[in-house]
Amino acid sequence: MKILGIGVDIESVERFHGLTIKSDSQFLNKIYTKNELKYCFSHKKHAQHLAVRFAGKEAVIKAMNGVSGKIFSVKDINIINTDNGSPVVKISKIYGNARVLISLSHCHDKAIAFVVVVRD
Ligand SMILES: CC(C)(COP(=O)(O)OP(=O)(O)OC[C@H]1O[C@@H](n2cnc3c(N)ncnc32)[C@H](O)[C@@H]1OP(=O)(O)O)[C@@H](O)C(=O)NCCC(=O)NCCS
Repeated sequence: MKILGIGVDIESVERFHGLTIKSDSQFLNKIYTKNELKYCFSHKKHAQHLAVRFAGKEAVIKAMNGVSGKIFSVKDINIINTDNGSPVVKISKIYGNARVLISLSHCHDKAIAFVVVVRD
């Protein structure tokens, strides 16, 4: 397995407090997929889940620098959760056989994401 790229990002949870689907749809729909919004707003502390996905997307973009010459939209990056809660990245325009691994963590004020892009 070869590591093609790494990326990390940290976000303040505060900037995501008070966002609602109704009044902030323009921002939310620009950044997040339908699945991500459904997941985040199904949780009481949705600001933390939104913040960590924002960090996750930024970390993916950093990690993909040099792997893909093309810049893709943040909405091409979909961060979903498996049944045990672990996050998985799906990118609609992935290049070659690269795989994107992600780990997320958040508390009341900060959210952090770490990404490794590998090729088997
Ligand atoms: C999986 C586990 C480690 C997550 O720890 P946590 O402190 O609740 O997680 P954080 O608040 O830092 O981060 C939450 C993120 O972890 C990720 N996550 C959740 N379950 C996960 C799992 N099984 N594997 C990997 N990542 C996981 C998710 O992305 C989640 O964010 P999201 O819901 O917005 O997608 C924890 O729930 C667990 O199972 N611990 C068991 C080990 C134990 O007993 N620890 C205590 C003493 S060390």
